[in-house]
Amino acid sequence: MRVLVTGGGGFIGAWIIRRLAEAGHDPVVFDMQENRAKLAEIAGADLADGIDWHTGDIVATGDVETAAKGCDALVHLAGILTPACRANPILGANVNLIGTLNVFLAARAHGIPNVAYMSSMGVFGPDGGAEPCPTTLYGAFKLGAEHSARAFFAEDGITSTGFRPYVVYGPGRDGGLSAGPSLACAAAARGEAYTIPFSGGIDMIHADDIARIFLTTIEAPPQGANVVTLLGNETTTDTVAETINRIAPGARITVDGPPMPIDGPKSEPQLAQLFPGWTPRPLEDGLADTIAFYKERT
Ligand SMILES: NC(=O)c1ccc[n+]([C@@H]2O[C@H](COP(=O)([O-])OP(=O)(O)OC[C@H]3O[C@@H](n4cnc5c(N)ncnc54)[C@H](O)[C@@H]3O)[C@@H](O)[C@H]2O)c1
Repeated sequence: MRVLVTGGGGFIGAWIIRRLAEAGHDPVVFDMQENRAKLAEIAGADLADGIDWHTGDIVATGDVETAAKGCDALVHLAGILTPACRANPILGANVNLIGTLNVFLAARAHGIPNVAYMSSMGVFGPDGGAEPCPTTLYGAFKLGAEHSARAFFAEDGITSTGFRPYVVYGPGRDGGLSAGPSLACAAAARGEAYTIPFSGGIDMIHADDIARIFLTTIEAPPQGANVVTLLGNETTTDTVAETINRIAPGARITVDGPPMPIDGPKSEPQLAQLFPGWTPRPLEDGLADTIAFYKERT
């Protein structure tokens, strides 16, 4: 299948493109920048050099429609993260909400039946409620995107699955509010001290676990407009720091900062229903892989 990956120049895009290519598909990148370094780092230089890459703005309807021509499915990741939405709310709404509308409009224009996209655990607020009630603009725009996906199924029959992970970690993660655990792994590999700048309970999921579930969603999409809270390993930043310090001799990882403004569900029955057999890798294994990746590069 030819699969357009918006935001394919970024961290999670690199992992999804790697999995798509390994499974024999033909991934195509749509991104506003053409820096192939992240993709090369995660998926290899050959894939990064040879991939069909469309440079364009997700906010521009025509750019997305042009890039989507001839594709069989769409993976939508292009977005800006919590701090950037806070710094520039209009840009945040344009990229994260209008950009999502453009992806669905491109699907409608070309008759592409299936969209897999990234929402976020950020649709939940800090109150531990079962219902989404975000207190960040980022969460508000993501929630708007989910509701829009539902409308595109009801009105146009476009099947979609939106995923809501919390902290995505692994090799290549270096930006956004929750990059701390990945930056801590990189610092530990270099023997440097690092302080994770937020505290408290989080859920951690490795980027390659995300890539595996996106691959399934592309190959065997659950029908309807689905939204799934993508749980990995429930933990705390203290446990993350302790684990890194235990598995990387000499590591000096500490925690200091406020809790994250998100407290989402701790279980998601839909995960097993829609994706039987999918399981996230254990946190300790994922942290060890991440440290090993950075050690190889020091
Ligand atoms: N990293 C996480 O922990 C996390 C958690 C939940 C959800 N998400 C979501 O996953 C998606 C991917 O996140 P990531 O961590 O890979 O981020 P990233 O910043 O590494 O990648 C995002 C990519 O989108 C591109 N982009 C930004 N604005 C664009 C525009 N106007 N037009 C075209 N491309 C544009 C960027 O150039 C970048 O390559 C985002 O939608 C994000 O909200 C991430």
